Amino acid sequence: MLKVLAIMGSPRKGKNNDILLDYMLKGIKKEREDAEVDKLYVSDLVIYPCIACEECTRKPGCILQDEMNHLYKKYDGADIIIITSPMYFNSVSAQLKAVIDRNQAIWSSKYILGQPLIDRKKKRLGYFIFTSGDETGCAGLTAAEPIINLFFKSINAEYVGNYFVKGSR
Ligand SMILES: Cc1cc2nc3c(=O)[nH]c(=O)nc-3n(C[C@H](O)[C@H](O)[C@H](O)COP(=O)(O)O)c2cc1C
Repeated sequence: MLKVLAIMGSPRKGKNNDILLDYMLKGIKKEREDAEVDKLYVSDLVIYPCIACEECTRKPGCILQDEMNHLYKKYDGADIIIITSPMYFNSVSAQLKAVIDRNQAIWSSKYILGQPLIDRKKKRLGYFIFTSGDETGCAGLTAAEPIINLFFKSINAEYVGNYFVKGSR
């Protein structure tokens, strides 16, 4: 079975990111009948922003008790992780950024505590869907790519590529 974790990072359901994500998921299912898709809307989840308390450097995990705890486990089980975001001020949405920052607990578990919250040997593939309202939008993609790169690194996924759509309002 191929486990696909799809994280929809726009607060707008049924709009550009949601449509593109569904399109990609449809393609995956067409290619792989055994694909099991877990699609999440970040705007539906209660995910607090990181408060830099550094508790994750003392004990594996995050002290904030919210739905991020489910996400840590979901990353671990996934073979493919797709994240999507609208471009907001040349970066990702605040909802998705909160998720990304909370991956600090995984980073600490690996690089400080040596007690990884995630199987570091498992092969995972990461894809990024990104949309901009602007017709060019390339500065935003250049700015977002290093952020997404670190996100995928933190969950030991290979950042395979972007699906960037400009001029989408
Ligand atoms: C707060 C906010 C900031 C935005 N910043 C940018 C931007 O910097 N560059 C850009 O091209 N579009 C910007 N946009 C437009 C969105 O990126 C664009 O409409 C996107 O495709 C919306 O995706 P969605 O329909 O999936 O929500 C912004 C929109 C909002 C609401």
